[in-house]
Amino acid sequence: MDLRLDDKVAIVTGGSRGIGKGIALEYAKAGAQVMIVSRKAEVCEAAAEEIGHGCRWMAGNAGDEVFVADVVSTVMADFGRADIMVNNAGTNPYAGPTIDIDLPRWNKTWHVNVTAPLMWSKAVWDAHIKESDGGCSVVNISSVGGFATNPIIGAYDVTKAALIHLTKQLAAEMGPKANVNAICPGLVKTDFARVLWEGDRGDQVAQAYPMKRLGEAFDMAAMAVLLASEAGSWLTGQAIVIDGGGLVSFSKIG
Ligand SMILES: NC(=O)c1ccc[n+]([C@@H]2O[C@H](COP(=O)([O-])OP(=O)(O)OC[C@H]3O[C@@H](n4cnc5c(N)ncnc54)[C@H](OP(=O)(O)O)[C@@H]3O)[C@@H](O)[C@H]2O)c1
Repeated sequence: MDLRLDDKVAIVTGGSRGIGKGIALEYAKAGAQVMIVSRKAEVCEAAAEEIGHGCRWMAGNAGDEVFVADVVSTVMADFGRADIMVNNAGTNPYAGPTIDIDLPRWNKTWHVNVTAPLMWSKAVWDAHIKESDGGCSVVNISSVGGFATNPIIGAYDVTKAALIHLTKQLAAEMGPKANVNAICPGLVKTDFARVLWEGDRGDQVAQAYPMKRLGEAFDMAAMAVLLASEAGSWLTGQAIVIDGGGLVSFSKIG
């Protein structure tokens, strides 16, 4: 089984921390050239050094169309290809009933979580994938929240459900040049989800999961490697839940 990514070039949004950094690290270990992007330059620089294998970085907002074009043209100029696009950067600026959300935060959530993945996918499609020999991949980081309702983060979950459908749509359009899949994490111990696992809450959620632990970035990264490798090449249009069994557990905590 071939899980190597030698000769492939990957862009990972939100690659400076958490799940994105975990994916970038495993891609680099599998032999890929990696470009990470996120907003804070110094955090990107430190992450790129830690990832190693010549990891590049550019600082900017994943939802900025000019930045998207700049990153993809830099990658094309440096490597001549952009095989793997990981749409990982996400935002959740609002907590509360979806019915009460203000339009600016609703629009921001949609822009970063749904519009940006479309922009990046289109940019790598136009620059490389559409004329390539195939073997390319788009990996979207959605959430188990995309399958359920939630009293607090429902608006965010609506965008994650939309990202799952965008994944299916792009899989139908980008085959056979690229497979397109979504990874749907349960609770992963990152800064983004800190409020959900800090203190005793993390232990409560972990105990409600059949696998009795919270997720780690590596759990997502292992799947991201499979999806981009030869071994995952017939897998497309899928929303793959990786949640320690949370969605199928008897307890609904977390
Ligand atoms: N952690 C969980 O439990 C969980 C569960 C389900 C789904 N997810 C999803 O997993 C993805 C990654 O989350 P995480 O938990 O790894 O979060 P994290 O540890 O907070 O990392 C988020 C990364 O994204 C970057 N980022 C955020 N907004 C950005 C923007 N507008 N433009 C560019 N970069 C941006 C951050 O860097 P800067 O702040 O420097 O930009 C950072 O590198 C998100 O899509 C999230 O919705 C997470």
